[in-house]
Formats: sequence, structure tokens, C-alpha cells
Amino acid sequence: MQTTAYAQCTAPAAQAAEIGTDKAKPVYNRLAMMEDPALAAGYLEARLVEAATLPADLPESLDEMAGWIARHTDAVGTAYRDYLAGRKAGAPRRYFHTKSQALYFLKAVAPTKLVDGAWLYGVLQRWDDEDFRPLIRIYLEELGNGVPDKNHVLIYRKLLAQHGCEQWQDLPDTHFLQGAIQLALAQGAESFLPELIGYNLGYEQLPLHLLITSYELNELGIDPYYFTLHVTVDNAATGHAHTALEGLKQIMPRVGDASDFLRRVAAGFRLNDLGVGTVDAIASFDLEAETVAMLAAKSTVGKNMHSDYCRVAGRTVNDWLSDATQIPLFLEKLEAQGWIRRGEPAENSRFWKLIQGERAEMFGVFSPYEQQLLQDWIATPRAGTDQAATDSPTEAPRVLSHRAMLRSMETLNSGTSPRSSAPRGLIRHRFPDDEHAWESIGCELRLLEARLAATSSKEEAMDLLVGLMSPERHHTSSGLMATRVFSRLYG
Ligand SMILES: [Fe+2]
Repeated sequence: MQTTAYAQCTAPAAQAAEIGTDKAKPVYNRLAMMEDPALAAGYLEARLVEAATLPADLPESLDEMAGWIARHTDAVGTAYRDYLAGRKAGAPRRYFHTKSQALYFLKAVAPTKLVDGAWLYGVLQRWDDEDFRPLIRIYLEELGNGVPDKNHVLIYRKLLAQHGCEQWQDLPDTHFLQGAIQLALAQGAESFLPELIGYNLGYEQLPLHLLITSYELNELGIDPYYFTLHVTVDNAATGHAHTALEGLKQIMPRVGDASDFLRRVAAGFRLNDLGVGTVDAIASFDLEAETVAMLAAKSTVGKNMHSDYCRVAGRTVNDWLSDATQIPLFLEKLEAQGWIRRGEPAENSRFWKLIQGERAEMFGVFSPYEQQLLQDWIATPRAGTDQAATDSPTEAPRVLSHRAMLRSMETLNSGTSPRSSAPRGLIRHRFPDDEHAWESIGCELRLLEARLAATSSKEEAMDLLVGLMSPERHHTSSGLMATRVFSRLYG
């Protein structure tokens, strides 16, 4: 492991020019394979140029940073207290008008959350350098030290699956930008170390939106664990925000040009502000557009699935679905013919009864997220009507908060199951779901054991483990095992 002077590497000009913000999605997908350091460098160069004009409130000297973090955390705490007081006084939810908007948010930030921690992957190579310990510690915590229930990416994957929000690949390009930066830093740790440290410092500060989203997700009956976990790990006293500063302090050059290093740290810090932030992602939700797009996507399969007896406004349903651009008009006709009663609880609509219920003709056609979209869309008065001008969406039946749901499940289970004592056990990740998968996974793990046993030095073993702990592998069974072994050897 050699410590370099952190020289900034430059991609060939033609390649860098070819990589624009508008191409974040293909870049993200290519970088996820972790095989293209030239692309990573070029992408980072281009993003750094873009971010250079953004303001950064990071102090210029290291001595001021602890105070700056404390002030920021205080300000966030005060703003959150005000938010809670407002809610108590009857203010509506600040972010999520409907549950479908909250589920859309989970999907909208998925490209970033599914590579959580990736920007730190490259520092694992420095496991034998004590100065890198704070940064490596953060990466290992992102990976849950190899424990599936604590691995941030696995927690998020489970959350998406629980609500049928896995279709995130069709999100607009800008939603992939932060994830692409994180994957690029994963491959650019040697050349972009100061920028990586600055990015980490910015990313690990506790944001107000994290507190509010956690609160409102729970309120809507959605498990906020992924988010609350970050509230606790990003704390300024002992958490990642503090460790991130330690990481900077220990790696600051003692002999080299400290001011140039800090200038590059600030440049990396600014990268956090590119792309779609949490609040923008939430605001980008359009219930009408998202519902129509969802039905249009469904129509490609549904256009051949209905019998000719199914007719709306004189045309067969298959005919309506044969052209996705007709979906808005089809919905209007369904409403006009009384199949859908907008502005009323979905249960009042005959159309909804085709979707929900054990004997429903379309039972199982729509995922939980898609059903929630339809439910909220029906309950919302059509835009431009008198009802829309006076009413907000029909008040959804009060849902149990996620925590209340867990409490009632505990009560239900108490005394009936020996496993009921652990509340999180009810939603614990079962890994893997397919029992036959254990055979191949078992084989894979035995192979890893054998390869580890065959290594002739700690360096060789660590190299093997680091290879399995990359952003696209650390959440697989072999990646988790490698992380557990690495954590033990690292100490
Ligand atoms: Fe995380």
C-alpha cells in the first residue's frame, strides 16, 4: 500500500467531454461494474468543474470545523423542534401529502441509497495505514460489519421490495447523478482522496430532511429504520459526522501543501449539492403523471389480457390499452361511466373492487406501490373541478404508524410464539428466501474459506476480502462473509 501525493488524474479530454450530467444513468450502470477507472476519473473531473461555482459553507481552516459541525447540528435540532411543535399544533405533513408520494420518494432516491457508502470503498486498500482508520470504520459500518440486518444497502433493498418499489431503473437521468459520483469516487480514491474526504464530510452531516422524512414515513405506516439508523450514525458527538472530521484531520498533509489539500476537500464537499436532493426528489412527485405512466407501462401486457366483453365507452379494454397515449382519456371514460368516483375513498369505486379483495378479477396485477398510487389518485378530486378547488384529497383512513403496528404485532404474538420477544424479528431480513439457494451459497462460502486458507500472508488475504467488499458485491452472501472476516482481521 503506497501513500501517493494524491495527484489528480485527468481523463482524456475527448472522453471527459463526452460525459455529461445528462448521461448519469449509463455512467452509473457502467461504474456499478467497478471496471472503468478512466470513466470514473473523467466523470469526477466534469462534475468538479460543474460544482466549482456552487457556494460551500465549509470553514477554510481545520480548527473551525468542529465548531461548524456543532453549530450545524444545533441549527438542525432547533428546526426539527419547530417542525414538531408545528405538527402538534395541527400543521399538515411537510413532505408527503399522500402515502404514494412517500413510496415514490423511496424509489426516487434508490439509485443513491443502493450504493450507500460506495464513495469510501477505495480507502479499504489502505487498511495497513492507521491514518485511514476513521474512514475505513465508516465504510465498515455502512456494510453493517457484514451482518445482513445491519448492512445499509440490504436494509434499503428490503424496504423497496416490501412496497413493490423496485422499478427504479426508469427514473429520470438526474436521479442517478449522486450515485454515479459515489461509484466514481469508489474507483478514484487514489487520485481524488481530498475530494473524497470532502464529499464524505458533507454527506455525513445530519440533514433536517432526514429527521422529517423518518417522522413522516413512520406516520404513514412505512418502516423508517433505514432513515432513523442514519439519524443515529450521523450524530456529531460520536457518529459519522465526527468520524468524518477525524478522517480529514488524520490524512491532512503534514509536509505537503495543506491549503491546496483543503481547497480540494471543499471541492469534494460541493459535489454533494449536484443532482436531485431529497427535498427535490420528494417535490418531483406528480400523482397524475405517475399514475398515468404506471398504467401505460402496465398496458403493454394488459392490452391482450381482457375479454371482448369488457367494454368502456363502446370500445374493448384491449383496444383502449393498445395505445398508451389513450390512458388519460380511458380514465376519463371510466370516471364518466361511474367505474371510478374521484374525490371519494377508493372503496366506493367499482374499478377499485376489481383490484382489491380476494376474488378481485385483477388481484395481484398491481404491486403495493401501484395500488397505493391508484388509491390516492382516486381519492384526489380531478383537477379543474369544483371539488378540486374546495377539497383536498379525501382524507385517507387513519393508518397505524409503523411503530404502533410493530407494538400491536408484539401484543398479538405475546404468549403465542417463543420468537415474539424480538420486535425487529418480525421484519428481519431472511437471507436468502429460497432454501435451495443455500446449497450454492454454502458452496460459495466454503470456496471463500478455502481461498482464504490458501493465502500466504495477511496482505494476500486482505486483498482477496477487499475485492469482495466492493459496492456491487458487499451485500451478497460472499461479500457479507468477506466483510465479517475483514472486520475481525482489521480489529
Ligand atoms: Fe448508510
